[in-house]
Amino acid sequence: MINIAIDGPSASGKSTIAKQLAKKLGYIHIDTGAMYRAVALECLNRNVDLDNETACYDVARVSDISLKTDGSIFVNGDDVSRLIRTDAVSQGASKVSKFKSVRELLVDKQRKIAAKKGFVLDGRDITSVVLPDAEVKIYQTADVAVRAKRRFDELSAAGFDVNYDSLFDELVERDERDMNRSESPLVKVADALEINTTHLSVDEVVNLVMGYIESRGLND
Ligand code: DC
Repeated sequence: MINIAIDGPSASGKSTIAKQLAKKLGYIHIDTGAMYRAVALECLNRNVDLDNETACYDVARVSDISLKTDGSIFVNGDDVSRLIRTDAVSQGASKVSKFKSVRELLVDKQRKIAAKKGFVLDGRDITSVVLPDAEVKIYQTADVAVRAKRRFDELSAAGFDVNYDSLFDELVERDERDMNRSESPLVKVADALEINTTHLSVDEVVNLVMGYIESRGLND
């Protein structure tokens, strides 16, 4: 068994692809963004200032975050899978993820989970920091307008009241923050396969990655 690491900007479809790959391979998908979102949600619930590193770290440290194999996420025993998808939490996650102490805590957790192999992790620093030795590394992108549309469709379908223009603006703002922060910014590592999904369907992307795995003799 191997590990598959997927990075890329917000709403580039990483989790969708990671989920499908995990299903095909019988692996477990770990949405690391959901962990940063869970910390942000807890901070918001406790009225903690999202610009205060020590306060955010304290919340992260005492929060029991657990990811279930069905993709749901629990914090201190409560299912927060839906609550972490709001705009406020998206922005909050991008803020708390700037902090070194918060990152170290979650990165450590992610590495421990993936140590056994057989995982597909997606996020911003998986190929560069969390699993630099992952057998397969993917950098997944898409044009920002397409990403905003996908996020709009996904949230609308889930019953959220969303506005395309504000989703677009928020994506631009988050890209800027995620790519330019000093701690583990989003980068494309040299040995990652870059896939621009702007004009590709989910199946096309999944087939591309499966072909890549096969071509490297990594399928067991
Ligand atoms: O993938 P997402 O949109 O759910 O991620 C939410 C935020 O968390 C995103 O703005 C950046 C941050 N993040 C991160 O810094 N490192 C990760 N491995 C995953 C997410």
